[in-house]
Amino acid sequence: MAFPHQILLLAVLHLCSLSVWAKVELTMDETVEAYRGDLVQIPCQYNFTDNAKPSLVMIQWFVKAAKSGLRTRIFYSDNDQEMVDGDTEYSTRIQVNSDPQGSVLTLQDVLLLDEREFICQVNGLAAGNAEGRTNLRVFAPPQPPVIEGVLTGISVTNEALSKVASCEAQNSFPKPNITWYRNDLPLVPAQGYVNVVTLVSREPEGFFTVQSELQYKVVREDRHARFTCEVHYLVPGAARTAESRDVNITVHYPTTMVELWKESPPGPVKEGDTVELRCHGDGNPPPPFIFNREQEPEGALGSSGDVLVLTEVTRSDSGVYQCRPQDSQSRASVMGDMLLTVHYLDPVVVVPRDSEVMFKGESLTATCNALSSLETTAVWYKNGKQVGRGHTLTLADATYATSGEYVCEVTVPSLPALRTSGSVHIIVQGAPQLSEEREVELEEATGRLVNLSCEAQGHPLPTISWSIVGTQTWREVVNRASENTAHSVVSVKVTSDVSALCNASNDMGAEVKSFRITAIPLASPPPVPHSPGKHRSLLLKALLFISPPPQNTSSSLLHRRPRSPPEPFSFQLRRTFACLSFLLIQIHRKYGNTGFLMERLWFCSRAIEWVRLWRGGVLARLE
Ligand SMILES: *[C@@H]1O[C@H](CO)[C@@H](O)[C@H](O)[C@H]1NC(C)=O
Ligand SMILES: *[C@@H]1O[C@H](CO)[C@@H](O)[C@H](O)[C@H]1NC(C)=O
Ligand SMILES: *[C@@H]1O[C@H](CO)[C@@H](O)[C@H](O)[C@H]1NC(C)=O
Ligand SMILES: *[C@@H]1O[C@H](CO)[C@@H](O)[C@H](O)[C@H]1NC(C)=O
Ligand SMILES: *[C@@H]1O[C@H](CO)[C@@H](O)[C@H](O)[C@H]1NC(C)=O
Ligand SMILES: *[C@@H]1O[C@H](CO)[C@@H](O)[C@H](O)[C@H]1NC(C)=O
Repeated sequence: MAFPHQILLLAVLHLCSLSVWAKVELTMDETVEAYRGDLVQIPCQYNFTDNAKPSLVMIQWFVKAAKSGLRTRIFYSDNDQEMVDGDTEYSTRIQVNSDPQGSVLTLQDVLLLDEREFICQVNGLAAGNAEGRTNLRVFAPPQPPVIEGVLTGISVTNEALSKVASCEAQNSFPKPNITWYRNDLPLVPAQGYVNVVTLVSREPEGFFTVQSELQYKVVREDRHARFTCEVHYLVPGAARTAESRDVNITVHYPTTMVELWKESPPGPVKEGDTVELRCHGDGNPPPPFIFNREQEPEGALGSSGDVLVLTEVTRSDSGVYQCRPQDSQSRASVMGDMLLTVHYLDPVVVVPRDSEVMFKGESLTATCNALSSLETTAVWYKNGKQVGRGHTLTLADATYATSGEYVCEVTVPSLPALRTSGSVHIIVQGAPQLSEEREVELEEATGRLVNLSCEAQGHPLPTISWSIVGTQTWREVVNRASENTAHSVVSVKVTSDVSALCNASNDMGAEVKSFRITAIPLASPPPVPHSPGKHRSLLLKALLFISPPPQNTSSSLLHRRPRSPPEPFSFQLRRTFACLSFLLIQIHRKYGNTGFLMERLWFCSRAIEWVRLWRGGVLARLE
């Protein structure tokens, strides 16, 4: 492909013949451009003026050597023959087509060396002759530019310019240019800031390879900068550019600011924690750091890199810590510092200590305190239940229930991991106190076993002793004691009326509980009116009122008597009422034992039967 230039050179040559002015008008493009390897056509047009029709027209094409300027013919034609000259570098690559108006040279497989002048010469002898020339320009675009950033760190303290990157554009024709950009802005060479060193080499085939090195005064901000190079090259009829990829550089700069902070644990620090302090500077590469406490500027603390680890800190580790880059002794101002506060909670002091004896009815105020660097709260517990809040606990009007272990737990609300506790044991002293009624009266069938229970609270723990009159057969079946309570149960065999005394005593006094057991003989009359229970005697009075005294005991109910005639209805009703009253009284007195109740029920029914029989007998005898 050929790109004819717009500017045409008109070559007009005047030739003088003997009598006739004749001339040739010849036109050629000044320049024809082509890519290397392409096919190019170089036209050469001519006219013979004055209608001079030459009998012979010779056309010759020459090339001119770039350096020496020597011409070499590469083609010849006349009316009779056409000939490509042998033994030239064009022998195999050219072809010429001619007609009466012109000749076109076609060149295949354009080489870089073909960039030279092509001359077309037309000779019509008497009709005149002329020649013209065309510059053939050949183009080869470079390969994409290859950029290499400097991989080692570049220090901003370097006095001279530092090499930052290099860029290479290979195999281009004509010679390309390379320009540099930092963050897409061109870097123009300037004394002391930017310098570009270019190295151009020529390949054997004629290609240019351009290497460019960017020398630059690096500043701290360049750590984020992107550098690119751009190659500018020409193609037929245009200028083109190709951009390289980005490179960045590692900038080394001194530390100008240092920060120190607590990396762990998060939140407040307490005694026993392991604390990590981290030091960070704005220098690159990060320098090793030296840690020290403010009060000991020269006492370097053992650290690894940028971290200082303090294990199992105590309150004495509280204070200001500092760190500075190891290499900056001179720059004392480059230092980070922080205040470390180690919080603590000392063991609880409970007053009274350990244990305290109180008398019943007394009051006492206990206090609970633990020294801490933070505000504390106290809570009191007894048997796992909260009994008070605050640093004092008032126990007013002590009872035996007041006795026990009081645990005071002190916590730090702002640092829940800090907690401690202490306790005081409260003992309430007093004379025995029976937990049930002091006098018990009961009745029991002869020969039966009765359990007598006696429970007393007191401190010191009461001892329970029994004195039992009226039976030889008794023994203690339960003897239990808790902290303040003694419990004893004796099993008594009722052989006759029994009176028993339970004496609960300690150093502070004694309390007595009495039992009276009325024995109900198995084969004797039913209990007499003076029997102990108030309700019982009422009932018996009612029974006696209803019916004459029986001739046999309740135990004799098993005996069968002859049937007697029916008694009046009112009489039966009164007896039934009496029996029900009895039952109600029994229930009222809370005889829980249903067996006993059933026995009583049975007794009543038999009593009714018995009275009926007895009355029947009397009536029979009266008859
Ligand atoms: C040749 O002559 C013709 C007619 O006069 C003209 O149109 C043409 O441009 C001329 N060609 C050249 C190359 O001068
Ligand atoms: C520098 O370039 C590398 C590779 O392209 C990239 O991973 C890195 O993030 C870049 N650094 C900066 C500071 O841009
Ligand atoms: C290269 O730079 C020179 C000098 O600035 C300039 O004359 C030439 O045209 C440039 N070449 C290209 C291909 O841009
Ligand atoms: C008396 O108490 C003992 C022990 O608790 C028990 O085994 C026994 O059954 C009780 N006797 C009576 C009559 O309740
Ligand atoms: C109860 O026992 C205590 C101590 O043994 C004694 O001093 C006191 O007299 C006793 N009381 C009775 C009523 O027996
Ligand atoms: C009472 O009953 C017993 C046993 O059945 C009998 O031997 C005795 O004679 C009776 N007594 C009277 C007063 O009826």
